[in-house]
Amino acid sequence: MGFRTVTNLSPRLATPAPYDAVARGLHWSMAVLITAAFALGLTVDVFPKSWEYAVVETHKAIGIAILLLLVLRFGWRLMHRPPAPIESSALLALAARAGHAALYVVMLVVPVIGLVYAIRRGQGFDFGLFTVPPFQAAEPRAITRPIKEWHEWAAYALIALACLHALAAFWHHFIRKDDTLRRMLPDASRSAP
Ligand code: HEM
Ligand code: HEM
Repeated sequence: MGFRTVTNLSPRLATPAPYDAVARGLHWSMAVLITAAFALGLTVDVFPKSWEYAVVETHKAIGIAILLLLVLRFGWRLMHRPPAPIESSALLALAARAGHAALYVVMLVVPVIGLVYAIRRGQGFDFGLFTVPPFQAAEPRAITRPIKEWHEWAAYALIALACLHALAAFWHHFIRKDDTLRRMLPDASRSAP
């Protein structure tokens, strides 16, 4: 009983340092945008043919927004060190760091390949309010098809990693019952000090 009380009052578990508001805002807005980009990319063919242009342009605009936010996120991350992971062992802490690093890498690689593909297909960019003309003539599909495939497979890898990552967050929350998920949520959701 006495031991239990001491455990519950452990400062590391009861008041973990939260991610700051900018890091949280960037994390969740990018998670939503990545999910939307993935859903639109996969379903281009499901929409009527007359919608294809709008769907692909929306997909590209969301993808470019992801790239811009990622640049901001890298910059913010370099200037503001995130709180140390709440892990019970050095091995789990290493797994969390490796998983996050891998997520950052694929978050960069997927839109960059998409951008290269669109440019090499001779596509312009229609952002609704303004357009950017193509940078070059379309290269033959035989050359660009592999780029589209890398884009697609890298996107699958990103979503698979993100699902594992979300499962890990739920494991922390529901099984280990620590504050890992809460410190990525708005302030009110964390345990009182
Ligand atoms: C995290 C961001 C992104 C994700 C998750 C994503 C995901 C996908 C997926 C799953 C496809 C379907 C692939 C296929 O059917 O072969 C696709 C297609 C495509 N993506 Fe992306 N993408 C992202 C960013 C971008 C960006 C930044 C651009 C370009 C600016 C782009 C351009 C394209 C194009 C042109 C297609 C082909 C669409 C068509 O079938 O005509 N993507 N994307
Ligand atoms: C496309 C979807 C997602 C991506 C790309 C993503 C990416 C990331 C990255 C890179 C970090 C590390 C942040 C840093 O320390 O710099 C992180 C942290 C975190 N993410 Fe996500 N995430 C996604 C979705 C989710 C979802 C759906 C959940 C919850 C269900 C979640 C929960 C968390 C939590 C709790 C942390 C903090 C982990 C810790 O402190 O050890 N994420 N995420």
